[in-house]
Amino acid sequence: MAAIAEAQAAKGPVMALDARWYTDPRVFELEKTQIFARTWQFACHQSRLGKAGDFFSFKIGQTGLFLVRDRAGDIRCFHNVCRHRAHELVEGSGSRPFIVCPYHGWRYDLDGSLKSAPGEDRVPGFDRSCIRLREVRIEMFCGFVFVNLDDDAEPMAAWYPGAEEEMRAFLPGVDTLRPVAEIPVVEACNWKVSVENYSECYHCKLRHPTFASGVIDPESYDVSPQGHCLRHTTRSAQSEKMTYAIDTPNPHAREYSSWFLWPTISFQVYPGSVLNTYLWRATDHRQVTVTRGWYTPEGVASEQVDLLAQQDLETTVAEDILIVESVQRGLESGSYEPGPLVIDPEGGVMSEHSIAAIYGWLQEALGEDLPS
Ligand code: FES
Ligand SMILES: [Fe+2]
Repeated sequence: MAAIAEAQAAKGPVMALDARWYTDPRVFELEKTQIFARTWQFACHQSRLGKAGDFFSFKIGQTGLFLVRDRAGDIRCFHNVCRHRAHELVEGSGSRPFIVCPYHGWRYDLDGSLKSAPGEDRVPGFDRSCIRLREVRIEMFCGFVFVNLDDDAEPMAAWYPGAEEEMRAFLPGVDTLRPVAEIPVVEACNWKVSVENYSECYHCKLRHPTFASGVIDPESYDVSPQGHCLRHTTRSAQSEKMTYAIDTPNPHAREYSSWFLWPTISFQVYPGSVLNTYLWRATDHRQVTVTRGWYTPEGVASEQVDLLAQQDLETTVAEDILIVESVQRGLESGSYEPGPLVIDPEGGVMSEHSIAAIYGWLQEALGEDLPS
């Protein structure tokens, strides 16, 4: 924040990015290799892999991957590509004693080693012990499994300093949480338009009356960069306007807090220690699926969480779709010239310093210059 305010004091307002960052398919191609393939990406909650052999497949950009729990109880991530002639190995999710390729039947153990290949004994020099599925780094974050396609990437604790400890303080029972709902919403906009809209609350009073009075306290709302995390905080919700009752003894129970982990996931703890997530998965340069996830202890259905999820869908989510799709049309209009961000050197709800932080991360990943 200090660096952003200093830059503004020295050079004048930080200008919004040129429309091409959001409309040029070549920028999206660069983002796949320079951002999505080099950052920590959420795969699934560990509870989806309860026992040995349980698997879950997913994609980061075009790269097909799957998680599987091995016989030692560890979760591993592999490329979803057979080492023989490249057929995909699994689809969706499920449970298997071995990973057997559907093309010619090569059989891999759950640790990725090749166990058998039909006809191998007829091939002089065929050394099964040299063949393994290509493995990808994983890290656990409060029970959420993250992967990184870059073997040299810094660990999550370096990317998002303090975030896991803080989330655990807000959610002492985080290890018992399980998903109860996943609600995908397709938005016709560049993924960064949606992420930026999520990351500032300058628009909240005008566009989110329910959220701004029923979940957060806009007067104390702030967003602070913390490593590559944007930390949203608010002192306390206005309890008389809360749209639901709070009955947890946690000292943070009346606070709203959120941790946006650059580039594509955010964790929100609503007052009452209710955890929910936003996950952005870009389809291409002008479409993104935003999935809202909701969590309860042991995944037990909760009327309160159902109501919150429904209220969120009908208010904040519906309100934001109108905004982000309008912004995308504006960016594609051909008439847009970047305007100045409104950055209060002291931060606060009426400041867009978080957008400047995102611009910094984009430029760090992609360089200052766009393809011409
Ligand atoms: S491609 Fe997998 S067994 Fe042939
Ligand atoms: Fe919004």
